[in-house]
Amino acid sequence: MKKLLTVIGARPQFIKAAAISRTLNDAFKGRIEEKILHTGQHYDNAMSNVFFDEMNIPRPHFTLQSGGGSHGAQTAAMLEGIEEVLLGEKFDGLLVYGDTNSTLAGALAAAKLYIPVIHVEAGLRSFNKAMPEELNRIMCDHASTLLFCPTDTAVHNLRQEGFDVTNDHKPTADHPAVHKCGDIMFDNTLYFSNISRDKFHSQPPFTITRKFVLATIHRPYNTDDGARLLAILSDLEWLTTQGFDVVFPIHPRTLKAAELANAQRLTELKANVHFHLVPPASFLEMIYLEQGSELIVTDSGGVQKEAYFLRKPSVVVRTETEWTELIDHGSAILCFETGEAMRSAFLSQLNKQFSDFPPIFGDGHAATFICQKIVEAL
Ligand code: UD1
Repeated sequence: MKKLLTVIGARPQFIKAAAISRTLNDAFKGRIEEKILHTGQHYDNAMSNVFFDEMNIPRPHFTLQSGGGSHGAQTAAMLEGIEEVLLGEKFDGLLVYGDTNSTLAGALAAAKLYIPVIHVEAGLRSFNKAMPEELNRIMCDHASTLLFCPTDTAVHNLRQEGFDVTNDHKPTADHPAVHKCGDIMFDNTLYFSNISRDKFHSQPPFTITRKFVLATIHRPYNTDDGARLLAILSDLEWLTTQGFDVVFPIHPRTLKAAELANAQRLTELKANVHFHLVPPASFLEMIYLEQGSELIVTDSGGVQKEAYFLRKPSVVVRTETEWTELIDHGSAILCFETGEAMRSAFLSQLNKQFSDFPPIFGDGHAATFICQKIVEAL
């Protein structure tokens, strides 16, 4: 029996961990024992606990309190706490997801102790090192022994950085293995969309009377400049004059930034009956909203993909994306400029029709593939 430490800390990682924990529990019992460490990066109930409850994720065996603070202080606190756990108990591998500060801290702590690092969602690149996530991804990939890529583009990116992607060798820290496995978020969307429909069929979590647009915004480049954040909110509010409601589950970072930028404007938005500024949604609520929406406006990596999985058009409020397949397909477009450009982007996406959504994110069985490869490699 191999022992795995899974390090998670931020909302998208709880969601991703649900797919692997479920698979380990269903089909790999007796072969891999998983323990979970929660770094505490996200700590509000709506950003953390609700996912463990709703998605049946095992309770963390270890919990740190490293939320808040600057990136350096936050990452350092995690690094110290994770190292202590790794020194106190023998693990055969450490599993991390995505690109957050928790991902980087987990990978670094394990690699320094010669414990194989397993990175799920490897190889993604935005080619924008001003994003903390881009540095986290690159550094985590280069500290990993087993790299699981969701798409062909991700494999290609790793090949460009000198990784051997042939997979004909036993993986080691100096000669890692790269696998294309599909996207575990697709596994989850398939698994939870029926559960979500059943749960909310007779009692929807939100009352929305018109067609609606779903929006999420939390990236620092959209929140930290108050004038920019207010401009994005105004563009979204404009949709309420075009016959749509807007549902905006608001991330704590965004709420704090909007209050700081102009508390009066925030009060006005809350008073608009067609603009629903709601607390962060749970995953089941989010899938429910995504399924019912006409358009999704987001700067989140996960939400832009869920739009594709659920066959919805999206506007990605960024200058670039690591999920370039979505832009090539056309169901997602990038728009960073606010005002006229943003409003035209909304309208143009609302007016497009898409019939074909090729299976670029795999077959919904990424988690099984990943667990099998972990068993073989450790
Ligand atoms: C992090 C990830 C990002 C991911 C996002 C999902 C990094 C560098 N970024 O960004 O890749 O897309 O999570 O949400 O790791 N806060 C609360 N309550 C919480 C959590 C955070 O109030 O439960 C506050 C923090 O104290 C901080 C701000 O929100 O002031 C931002 O939190 P932070 O942990 O820096 O990351 P995110 O912006 O959420």
